[in-house]
Amino acid sequence: MTELKNDTYLRALLRQPVDYTPVWMMRQAGRYLPEYKETRAQAGDFMSLCRNTELATEVTIQPLRRFDLDAAILFSDILTIPDAMGLGLYFETGEGPKFERPITCKADVEKIGLPDPEGELKYVMDAVRSIRKELNGKVPLIGFSGSPWTLATYMIEGGSSKAFTKIKKMMFAEPQTLHLLLDKLADSVIEYLNAQIAAGAQSVMVFDTWGGVLSPRDYKDFSLQYMAKIVDGLTRENEGRKVPVTLFTKNGGMWLESIAATGCDGVGLDWTIDIENAAARVGDKVALQGNMDPSMLYAPKERIEQEVAKILSGYGDKGTGHVFNLGHGIHPDVNPEHAGHFIEAVHRLSKPYHK
Ligand code: CP3
Repeated sequence: MTELKNDTYLRALLRQPVDYTPVWMMRQAGRYLPEYKETRAQAGDFMSLCRNTELATEVTIQPLRRFDLDAAILFSDILTIPDAMGLGLYFETGEGPKFERPITCKADVEKIGLPDPEGELKYVMDAVRSIRKELNGKVPLIGFSGSPWTLATYMIEGGSSKAFTKIKKMMFAEPQTLHLLLDKLADSVIEYLNAQIAAGAQSVMVFDTWGGVLSPRDYKDFSLQYMAKIVDGLTRENEGRKVPVTLFTKNGGMWLESIAATGCDGVGLDWTIDIENAAARVGDKVALQGNMDPSMLYAPKERIEQEVAKILSGYGDKGTGHVFNLGHGIHPDVNPEHAGHFIEAVHRLSKPYHK
């Protein structure tokens, strides 16, 4: 295997000393880049882009050509698992993801089998292998999946939701049915992420976009419990290196201590929590990833820089354990130059904290 030239991102997650704060952006490959829109048009639609090894590799690399990012993230989606479970994923323009056959009852859950990562999901592993080859050791490759709870919201609601009434109805009226689904999803995510690691992903991240809509008790029972099961089941070392795992619950700032207690290496933060407070609460148990409001990229360069400086000083001079990121995905109408300023500012302004 090629030697990794820049391992700052992996080292920061493992709380080993680094020379500066590494940075990447959630959704760094996406519609704010004109070259992405061009490649997607060439592919036809979003899922065809994910299934095309060459084009999925191309869009993964695109942001790295523009910016000095410290990690690449696999171009794919969290909804590949439910799609491979037979729910029929499609995208309606302007409306986000939808399923042709959502889960409605216990019989639907019982019918679901675990997809084979090198079968129905082989296109994802092929993309991982191809991206690793193309990266040639430049920066590490992050693999990812959705959390069981977040995947279940899409599978039961049939798409994106605001009130989550269908899944909450199942959660309170038929909790055992939902637990059965979440347990199957956790098993599937373990197999899927371990296959990504075997294919070459050097770190993995679990996106729990919707865990924050739960009460503290329900969060533990219906989301965190299953992410903890995933952390326990993951391959934590490959190619002679540790494979760090990051858990990200959007709106999960109240629960950082319990997230850190799962045994993960990194905890993702959205922008609704102060990083200084977060760092004091988790101590040296885990690294933190975050946490600038993605909308800050609409601001002028000077304002972005000010915010980067505030977050860096909030985290302080611990010398490691912070991966800079946005608190959620970059918006599609952001000027790419502003993203460039952001990344450059993180590198420049973080150096004094790493003497
Ligand atoms: O970060 C990256 O650059 C890697 C690629 C990536 C995508 N989706 C590509 C994508 C990642 C890590 C995801 C994760 C994902 N997908 C999440 C968790 C993170 C988050 O944002 O909360 C969720 C909830 C999804 C489900 C999903 N996929 C939604 C809700 C949508 C539509 C929203 C939108 O922006 O249109 C998608 C489609 C999707 N996934 C796009 C991209 C680049 C946009 C598709 C397009 O090109 O039109």
